[in-house]
Amino acid sequence: MRFLLGTLTLLVVIDCAVAVCSTFQTQINVSMCSWHGLRVANILRDTIYLDGGRLWYQKGYDDGCVQLQPDNNLEATIYYLNLTNPFNTKSDFMNLLSNMSVAGGSASIAPNYVDGTMFANDNEFYLYGGMLSNTGSSDPPPANQVLSYAAHQYGTYRSSWAPNWKQEYLPTNVTRYITNGAAASAPSENLGFYFSGMRAPDWADFNLNQLQSNQTADTLITLDMSVMSDGKWTNDTLPGYIPARSNAELVWVPVSESGVLVAIGGVVEPIQFFRNDKENSSRTAESKKISPTFMETVSVFDVESKIWYLQNTTGDIPPQLTEFCSVLASAADGSSHNIYIYGGYDGLEYNANPSDDVYILSLPSFRWVKAYTGTNTHSRSGHECIKVYPDQMLAVGGQHVDSTHCLEGGVIVNFNLNTLRFEDDYDPTKWSKYKVPDLVTKWIGGNSDGGATTTTPSSWTNSSLEGIFGKKYGKKVETYWPYNSSNSSSASAQDHSGGNGFPNWAGGVIGAVLGLLVITIIAGLYFYRRRHRQRESAGPEAEAAEAEPKDRPAEWRYASGPASPGPGPVSSSTGMETAETVRTTQTSATQPSTTQPSITQASTVPDSLVSPVTPGTVESGGDALYEMHDSSPVELPTPFNTAYFAHGGPPKPEPEGGLNPDPRRGSQSPISPQTPSEADSEFSYSTGHNRRPSSLSLAPPLSIDNVMSIRSSHFYESFDSLDVRRAGHRSEVSQVTDHAEEKGRKGGSETIREDE
Ligand SMILES: *[C@@H]1O[C@H](CO)[C@@H](O)[C@H](O)[C@H]1NC(C)=O
Ligand SMILES: *[C@@H]1O[C@H](CO)[C@@H](O)[C@H](O)[C@H]1NC(C)=O
Ligand SMILES: *[C@@H]1O[C@H](CO)[C@@H](O)[C@H](O)[C@H]1NC(C)=O
Ligand SMILES: *[C@@H]1O[C@H](CO)[C@@H](O)[C@H](O)[C@H]1NC(C)=O
Ligand SMILES: *[C@@H]1O[C@H](CO)[C@@H](O)[C@H](O)[C@H]1NC(C)=O
Ligand SMILES: *[C@@H]1O[C@H](CO)[C@@H](O)[C@H](O)[C@H]1NC(C)=O
Ligand SMILES: *[C@@H]1O[C@H](CO)[C@@H](O)[C@H](O)[C@H]1NC(C)=O
Ligand SMILES: *[C@@H]1O[C@H](CO)[C@@H](O)[C@H](O)[C@H]1NC(C)=O
Ligand SMILES: *[C@@H]1O[C@H](CO)[C@@H](O)[C@H](O)[C@H]1NC(C)=O
Ligand SMILES: *[C@@H]1O[C@H](CO)[C@@H](O)[C@H](O)[C@H]1NC(C)=O
Ligand SMILES: *[C@@H]1O[C@H](CO)[C@@H](O)[C@H](O)[C@H]1NC(C)=O
Repeated sequence: MRFLLGTLTLLVVIDCAVAVCSTFQTQINVSMCSWHGLRVANILRDTIYLDGGRLWYQKGYDDGCVQLQPDNNLEATIYYLNLTNPFNTKSDFMNLLSNMSVAGGSASIAPNYVDGTMFANDNEFYLYGGMLSNTGSSDPPPANQVLSYAAHQYGTYRSSWAPNWKQEYLPTNVTRYITNGAAASAPSENLGFYFSGMRAPDWADFNLNQLQSNQTADTLITLDMSVMSDGKWTNDTLPGYIPARSNAELVWVPVSESGVLVAIGGVVEPIQFFRNDKENSSRTAESKKISPTFMETVSVFDVESKIWYLQNTTGDIPPQLTEFCSVLASAADGSSHNIYIYGGYDGLEYNANPSDDVYILSLPSFRWVKAYTGTNTHSRSGHECIKVYPDQMLAVGGQHVDSTHCLEGGVIVNFNLNTLRFEDDYDPTKWSKYKVPDLVTKWIGGNSDGGATTTTPSSWTNSSLEGIFGKKYGKKVETYWPYNSSNSSSASAQDHSGGNGFPNWAGGVIGAVLGLLVITIIAGLYFYRRRHRQRESAGPEAEAAEAEPKDRPAEWRYASGPASPGPGPVSSSTGMETAETVRTTQTSATQPSTTQPSITQASTVPDSLVSPVTPGTVESGGDALYEMHDSSPVELPTPFNTAYFAHGGPPKPEPEGGLNPDPRRGSQSPISPQTPSEADSEFSYSTGHNRRPSSLSLAPPLSIDNVMSIRSSHFYESFDSLDVRRAGHRSEVSQVTDHAEEKGRKGGSETIREDE
């Protein structure tokens, strides 16, 4: 422990010592540092998409100096993570994440948004809401414009179809002028929901720089994705007894006819929208009074009847939180639905150290259990969580204190829902079915497979709710796991002995020398394959893969059935659990030709890019769950990507360098092909400028008051280490701090804005 602290301190000191880089040095590496307020993180089958937000890079120079820099995403790029790729806490996420152009790479059609959401079923997604961050160069998109991306076709079969972006238009009663709401998608219902959030006075336009979105929105926006590329939107006002709030979490739970939504947490008067108004303590007081009730009493919406209810909870009720994340894991028999929430901060102190804790709200007992107590250094807020396997939740993006504090463990970390700890790696071959943790069964009865005996809260606030939670969800929820894995994954599995609930058959068997040799070879093979797989044509293998997921014990083949994570009840009630229903979707073996924003039918790209996906499970992060057996082609990168892949370009910020094989890219992009970080915008942050305001600034001002300590004993426990860290921080940078402080108080992006 002491050693750890020492190391930590040392690291911080080193970090600070190299804060100022000479412009004459050569950049030797770059990595993703933090990614706060993602607009998008959701999953389509085997792929997680990430978009928007404040992405910051850390660049390393040959003299050992590191420098932080925001990305403005002026090229309208969306990133995606292919879940067939293993990774670990040391992975180079710049390489792991692929990217493609949104709407042809036009920043005027697809500018960067912070917050907002992505609604998704298994086949398409919609980008909605959020705060525009780069309004400088062009007019903002109209109030009624949204973008959708169809990755797999569904509904009426179209023979000449390819994945595509589309500009769609909202009906008269709906605008895109809303942000910081709580979103959930229910793929089995083809529905997406955006609960409450923030808006400007009069529901007018707003942006990230001026923060006009300072009022809560008392609405539930619903998107119906039943028809591909033709979303139907509605805007319903919340009843008076359902309080509006900022950045709650909304979870779709498979019970009753169409499921229910559960809204958890969130805050009123979030500090981020009036942080410049420091003298006003009345709003903070208001938040302290009201926000905790959003954890104590959750809002429940029955999708079928469209009626809202309130329900009290019991147990270890978390403190007020906002910008946290959630996922749902259901017992195999559906006797409990466990909502895991992770991270977040209290919305009271802008530079507060966020939470690193995990709580579970078990339904229908409505009992909170504190499942994991984290650390002061690993904590994060403004991230998204996605359940990728029955037992695993990925926390994607976020920031620690502010954008310049790089996320410990990387921009994607993996929490095991069974063992209740973070794992060092993600490997598509390593997963297990969901087991209700003992910490939970201790209160609700039963065992890891279910059999909960406490299936009601201490008292229902409305007897109608009892009927709703007592009724099983009857529709099939598709899953897409296990993800096909490349052979290389076993290599990465071996260099991380994260002794957890996983089968540990490989442990200790392979000698170090042999192991290294194997790893080296495999890694080489892996990178080779990685480069070339985009070109592989896939077709016929799909069937085979579907028929027999090879490496899996027999029981796992039916894992999407009763043993499946999410909707245990679903499968059992429908009797579809063991039905290895090969979904013959009409997904044509077309490819990816995104890039033509409004041309939906534009088809035709050679088939070379398609590959099959094996059956697997996917469950959406805090949002929903999918379940399915499918062998249809999976969506692919665009021609742009193909070009990129072919070149296997260098890591980030010098993207335009030598990779312009697709002439359209150059010609289409209205934005000059500049290094994003140096492009002219409100976030402009030149390399030679040497300012690392926030990282400097936040060092000194941190004090016990800044630590989000309310009810989180671990913050007290580990406060000493925090203090040590800060001391080191301060001493190293004090000379720079003094002048930087008045501007830098609040974190990088904001500081920059204040310069305007
Ligand atoms: C990047 O370069 C910096 C400075 O040389 C170095 O401290 C850091 O460890 C490097 N990061 C990686 C991931 O190699
Ligand atoms: C718009 O809202 C009004 C009042 O709420 C409602 O009467 C009308 O049907 C709505 N129009 C649409 C297109 O949803
Ligand atoms: C929702 O409807 C109200 C009026 O009923 C309107 O003022 C508001 O702009 C709408 N909100 C969104 C996000 O469309
Ligand atoms: C909210 O934002 C508007 C537009 O910037 C501003 O006029 C108003 O004073 C703000 N209200 C509060 C309570 O901060
Ligand atoms: C503080 O905020 C409250 C609520 O928005 C507002 O009524 C009050 O005028 C503000 N006070 C100051 C000093 O800005
Ligand atoms: C729910 O909790 C609130 C606040 O503690 C309390 O006022 C209310 O009576 C409770 N409702 C029920 C039905 O227990
Ligand atoms: C319970 O909910 C029903 C709607 O399902 C509503 O009509 C009734 O008033 C509610 N009862 C209470 C006590 O809130
Ligand atoms: C792994 O590689 C071996 C030999 O290259 C091959 O026989 C086997 O089928 C591969 N397994 C998977 C899951 O790709
Ligand atoms: C899935 O794995 C099988 C077995 O290794 C392989 O033959 C097939 O090509 C893989 N599919 C994809 C899409 O990678
Ligand atoms: C993910 O990787 C697998 C295996 O390489 C590939 O078959 C599949 O097409 C990829 N998915 C996407 C969306 O690129
Ligand atoms: C997109 O991916 C390519 C290929 O990996 C890479 O060279 C490029 O820098 C990436 N672009 C962005 C904006 O990350």
